[in-house]
Amino acid sequence: MINVISTLLVISHSILFVSGDEHTHTYTDKEEVVLWMNTVGPYHNRQETYAYFSLPFCIGSKSEISHYHETLGEALQGVELEFSGLEIYFKGNTPKTVYCEATLNEEQLKTFLYAVKNHYWYQMYIDDLPIWGIVGEMDESKNEYYIWTHKKLDIGYNKNQIVDVNLTSEAKVLLKLGAKLPFTYEVNWKPSNIKFEDRFDKYLDPSFFQHRIHWFSIFNSFMMVIFLVGLVSMILMRTLRKDYARYSKDEEMDDMERDLGDEYGWKQVHGDVFRTPSHPLLFSALIGTGYQLILVTFVVISLAIIGELYTERGSLVSIGIFIYAATAPVNGYFGGSLYARMGGKVWIRQMMMSAFLLPALVCGTAFFINFIAIYYHASRAIPFSIMVAVVSICTFIILPLTLVGTVLGRNLAGQPNYPCRINAVPRPIPEKKWFMELFVIIPLGGILPFGSIFIEMYFIFTSFWAYKIYYVYGFMLLVFMILVVVVICVTIVCAYFLLNAEDYRWQWSSFLAAASTAMYVYVYATYYFIFKTKMYGLFQTTFYFGYMALFSITLGIITGTVGYIGTSKFVRKIYSTVKID
Ligand SMILES: *[C@@H]1O[C@H](CO)[C@@H](O)[C@H](O)[C@H]1NC(C)=O
Repeated sequence: MINVISTLLVISHSILFVSGDEHTHTYTDKEEVVLWMNTVGPYHNRQETYAYFSLPFCIGSKSEISHYHETLGEALQGVELEFSGLEIYFKGNTPKTVYCEATLNEEQLKTFLYAVKNHYWYQMYIDDLPIWGIVGEMDESKNEYYIWTHKKLDIGYNKNQIVDVNLTSEAKVLLKLGAKLPFTYEVNWKPSNIKFEDRFDKYLDPSFFQHRIHWFSIFNSFMMVIFLVGLVSMILMRTLRKDYARYSKDEEMDDMERDLGDEYGWKQVHGDVFRTPSHPLLFSALIGTGYQLILVTFVVISLAIIGELYTERGSLVSIGIFIYAATAPVNGYFGGSLYARMGGKVWIRQMMMSAFLLPALVCGTAFFINFIAIYYHASRAIPFSIMVAVVSICTFIILPLTLVGTVLGRNLAGQPNYPCRINAVPRPIPEKKWFMELFVIIPLGGILPFGSIFIEMYFIFTSFWAYKIYYVYGFMLLVFMILVVVVICVTIVCAYFLLNAEDYRWQWSSFLAAASTAMYVYVYATYYFIFKTKMYGLFQTTFYFGYMALFSITLGIITGTVGYIGTSKFVRKIYSTVKID
């Protein structure tokens, strides 16, 4: 079994990280340098992209290249590199050369006009360095549209490595029927002092990401955490101590007195707190997935901090998928053991649900958006081969690993060693004040956690939907940890109030109260869509809201699980110290 798994891991690893020559990033003089054409799309929406050659640009004359490379992560992000056909040789200057000449027919004219009117940009890569260029220019007063036909590449090199690229677009030609477009290029090599390690620095935007507001918000959240932790521990200590005192006094009274006395509060529900919540199957699948996602988030962010992953296209997504697959046993272990403790019988069904909950959600959303993308011919459409790869990762890696985890979890941690016995008959939940109802407590629970992360959300959204490279993963890790602490504090308080109101349904309510953070994030995403982006149309709207829903759901599972873990520790603690006859 283990053998099979390790073989599969190796295979999946090689699917995920197909490497090529460009990975060494060193060149000898006159060695071939490949200019890759990536995508073209409107400037105002970085996520709406089409293949570069979907516009009637022409390909250069060179047809053979010595290597090709693409990773799963790239493909999932809609990166589909095509060779430009231009001859570029390391340190070999190319004077202005015509690589093809096109005469515009009606259809091509219409396409180019559309692109220029919508501020289309295109993107290229040379030695993994991104290059952006604008398609054309318009003169609205005269209602004239131009296209840039000359690409001037200034490439800086440091010893045997490429460290800098500038593109200048020149020679604009008026777009009209029958116009001759001589597409030309030019390459100038210049020695540069930029160090290879620093070559991505010019794409980063410290004045945006390290803005005072960003630092301030983190400082703010941090203070909030300290305040909250202090407050929560103080209140709980005091009230709990009072509760214990009251309960121990009760014990000294005889039964008669006790019946007349004021018996109320969380101790009353000791026979029900560890009662299995409704929908145990779904609940344990969510918690298992949550444990896994927490681990994946933590590992990916840490790797991003260490490895400066932004310098390689798609590597973050590839690594994310790889780590998700590799951590599947965690999901099985925690989901399976929880299900066993809750006395669940259909553990195989529970395991399947645990394993496929998130993949099904992600694939379902991606599939739906893909349909629309294919209809619009966008380059976001995910190739069929990639879908097959994803499905096989799910069935041949994630499922067996989840099985291993589930079996381990059921056997090692499947015993329900609760501190209190569960009564045979469920206690009725008494009438409560309106603000103690679940539909009030649950949405209230998300407010503070959302408050601690929403500025970071702005930076993450902006880097995803606009031309910015996110690189401040240290901030992200900090915010993630702050979020965890805030969520735990808030859900513990919620659970305490609920239990005091003799409502013992703390499992789902702590999960949902924490997960409601994601609901606010989604509302914020809607706000962001309306006021901060310039997207429009069916494709862009579904794309945005589809992926944002996925993001929010994932976040919701993470925060929900964090809330549940914190609360269950708390509940266990308070009921284990109280003596029950
Ligand atoms: C690219 O442009 C920048 C800013 O104008 C300049 O400092 C740099 O030297 C240019 N690089 C090359 C290789 O021409």
